[in-house]
Amino acid sequence: GITGTTRAADPAGAGETVNLMDVELMRDPFGGYARLRERAPLVRGTFFGRGTPIWVVTRYDDVKSVLGDTRFVNDPTGVPGLDVGNLREREAEARGIPEEYARYIFDGILDTDGEDHLRLRRLVSRTFTARRVLALRPRVEEITESLLDRLPGLARDDVVDLIEHFAYPLPITVICELVGIPQEDRRQWREWGKALVALEAGGMAAALREMVDHIHELIARRRAAPTGDLLTGLIRTHDEDGDRLGDTEMVTLVLTLVLAGHETTAHLIGNGVAALLAHPGQLALLREEPALMPRAVHELMRWCGPVQGTRLRYAKEDVEIGGMPVRKGEAVMAVLVGANHDPRVFAEPGRLDITREPDGRRETHVGFGSGLHYCLGAALARQEAEVAFGGLLRRYPGLALAVAPEDLDRELMPGSWRLARLPVRL
Ligand code: HEM
Repeated sequence: GITGTTRAADPAGAGETVNLMDVELMRDPFGGYARLRERAPLVRGTFFGRGTPIWVVTRYDDVKSVLGDTRFVNDPTGVPGLDVGNLREREAEARGIPEEYARYIFDGILDTDGEDHLRLRRLVSRTFTARRVLALRPRVEEITESLLDRLPGLARDDVVDLIEHFAYPLPITVICELVGIPQEDRRQWREWGKALVALEAGGMAAALREMVDHIHELIARRRAAPTGDLLTGLIRTHDEDGDRLGDTEMVTLVLTLVLAGHETTAHLIGNGVAALLAHPGQLALLREEPALMPRAVHELMRWCGPVQGTRLRYAKEDVEIGGMPVRKGEAVMAVLVGANHDPRVFAEPGRLDITREPDGRRETHVGFGSGLHYCLGAALARQEAEVAFGGLLRRYPGLALAVAPEDLDRELMPGSWRLARLPVRL
């Protein structure tokens, strides 16, 4: 690759340790990670709640190699000889998660490697198929239209917050629909969804307990009376050897789908709408040529994707990245926003260009990750974003930001790029 140039083999050249929780970095991740990207292939970083520093990887080729290399694992207990101590217990305690519920949060698909991971992917993929996602499109459109209908009534002084009233409700409703959460429970799920956000930040264990119990109950109901939903699919799914998902696995999976698919998609919609409204030329082009939509969504994922970095990966053995050594047991963070704005791959990375990707099927960016843990919901998220942007632009041709783009309120959260509010005039 192009990586690993001058100071490549010299870890000391990596310079000072960077604090990934730094407010300045959260405020300007594009500039901040660009500086790290130019400094060295690997830079030492400190991350929330971790005693030992990690390696921060920001160059496109290096991010791809970390995520594509099975010598890096997600589950640190899989690293021979690595003492992870009681990391998990401490994290559960810090978040107020009761011990018997911890497994639902910590034994998800993203925490598995190798055969265990392939098995989960295989079983889920049998029922969470491209066809199922496509079949959901008319419902995504209906849900979008009904949310759009309500917007004028929610405006105060002509201004409405699209995060609260559009970007958030759409994905949670779609996931409920996909999984098969009954209509009458949706309101409750939206509350839990909000509580889980708090849980991510520490707290609100009651919501987790209620959700887990609720999903167990739903599984029992679907066993007795199957439908066409994903949950029924998960119950029925088995592979050639007759292997199936256990109840705990299904509950964990449903929780993961809700957790992984709800906020991320909401903020892709929020960031994307804001980006388009701040780039009138690109917006006009998209209105003129709606067929550009799939490419526009790829570019918005690259330019302002909501997820800035992956889970930590642990080296199972000594590995070289960009010519620099990562020692067995060390943790690495692949910075997706670094890769997606790497000028080695994307010319003028700061320029929003919805025609950048050559066609609508492929994506070069790594906003959905890469390799074995590539986002399971990418097709669904893209579809939701396409329908959301398309519907909004068609329905409200005069849509405009109610504040200057630079005055938009961002929610500063490590690893995430998101708006607190998106005030617009319809
Ligand atoms: C994995 C991003 C929407 C379910 C991932 C990863 C990323 C990502 C970066 C890889 C993490 C890593 O390797 O450490 C996003 C973004 C989304 C989105 C930016 C929206 C714009 C969704 C949706 C769903 C979903 C809608 C489900 C319906 C998952 C699951 C995984 C995953 C289950 C784990 C896959 C595995 O471990 O094999 N996502 N995601 N995501 N995503 Fe998404």
